[in-house]
Amino acid sequence: MPNPICRALGIRYPILLGGLLNIGKAPLVAAVSAAGGLGILGAGAWDGNELRDQIHQVRERTDRPFGVNVVVRSAYSEEHVRIVIDERLPVVTTSAGDPMRYTATLKDNGVYVMHVVPTVAYALRAERAGVDAIVAEGSESGGFTSLEEISTFVLVPQVVDAVRCPVLAAGGIGDGRGLAAALMLGAVGVQVGTRFLGSVECGIPAAYKESLLTAQDTDTILTRSPRAAHRDLKKDLVARVLAHEREERSEEGLPKSGKALPVWSAGQVAGLVREILPAKELIERMVREAREGISAFSGMPEWLSG
Ligand SMILES: Cc1cc2nc3c(=O)[nH]c(=O)nc-3n(C[C@H](O)[C@H](O)[C@H](O)COP(=O)(O)O)c2cc1C
Repeated sequence: MPNPICRALGIRYPILLGGLLNIGKAPLVAAVSAAGGLGILGAGAWDGNELRDQIHQVRERTDRPFGVNVVVRSAYSEEHVRIVIDERLPVVTTSAGDPMRYTATLKDNGVYVMHVVPTVAYALRAERAGVDAIVAEGSESGGFTSLEEISTFVLVPQVVDAVRCPVLAAGGIGDGRGLAAALMLGAVGVQVGTRFLGSVECGIPAAYKESLLTAQDTDTILTRSPRAAHRDLKKDLVARVLAHEREERSEEGLPKSGKALPVWSAGQVAGLVREILPAKELIERMVREAREGISAFSGMPEWLSG
C-alpha cells in the first residue's frame, strides 16, 4: 500500500526532519532529503533574505524535495509564506499558531501543508483549516511544547481516531523501535528533531553534541511560561544562564553582544543519542531497525496468537 506522504511528496521514507529553530540549516536539510527523508528548514527566526539564501543553498546540494517550517506566530511568517510560494517549494510544516491563518493561501498555490499539534482539539482545528496532514507532537519532544503535556504514546492514537487526514508522530522517536511503535499507534510517518541534532551535518557547537551523547533519560527539563513550555538539556543550563546574566548590558538591559541566551534544546529521547552519525545513516538505520523489529513479530507471542 503506497504511503500517502511519500506519494504526495515524492519521497522514499515518511521521515521528516522537524523544523529546528536556527539549527535546521541547508547542510542538514539537504542531507535528510538526499537520504530519502524530508528535510525542513528551521526558518522561524530568519528574515526573508536568510530564508531565500538557505533555500538556494539546499538546492545547490540536492534536487530532492524539501520544505520550510513556518512558525505562524513569528514576525516573519507572512514573508515566509510569500517566499515559499515564490520559490515554488512543495511542502511546509506550520506550527505555533492558528492553522486557519495560512493553510488556504498555501494550498491554493499548490503547497502541501502539515500542521503540528499538541492536542486533539488543535488537530480538529487543523483539519477544519484543510491541512493535508497533521503532525501530532508529544510533550517529550525538544524545543517549544504545549502546556498540556500529553505524551506521544497517548496523543497519537487519539489524534488518529479524531481526524481523517494522515497523521505523523513526533516526540521521543530516536530509532527504528520508535518508528515501528509510531506506525503501530496509527501514524503514517514520523517527525524527528532531537536525534538529528546528533548528526554529522547538524551545525550545533561541539559541547552541545557532547551533552547529547552523555545525556540520560532524566537530563532534560521543561520550563513553563504563561503561553508555552520549553524542553532543554539540564546540563550547563545554570552556568549558561549565569553567564548571560553577567554579560554587559545596554541601558535598556539588553545584552551588548546582542546574543540571546544560548539554550540547548533537546527532547527526552536525548538519552538514546549515543553516536554522532551522518543523517543518511541515521535514516537508513531507523528504517532497517523498524523493518527487522516488525518482521520479528511474525513469530507471534503465544499469548497473543489466540
Ligand atoms: C533544538 C530544537 C528546536 C526546535 N525548533 C522548532 C521550531 O522552530 N519549530 C517547530 O515547529 N518545532 C521545533 N522543534 C520541534 C521539532 O520540530 C520536532 O517536532 C521535535 O523535536 C520532535 O521531538 P524529538 O525532539 O523528541 O525528536 C524544535 C526541536 C528542537 C530539539
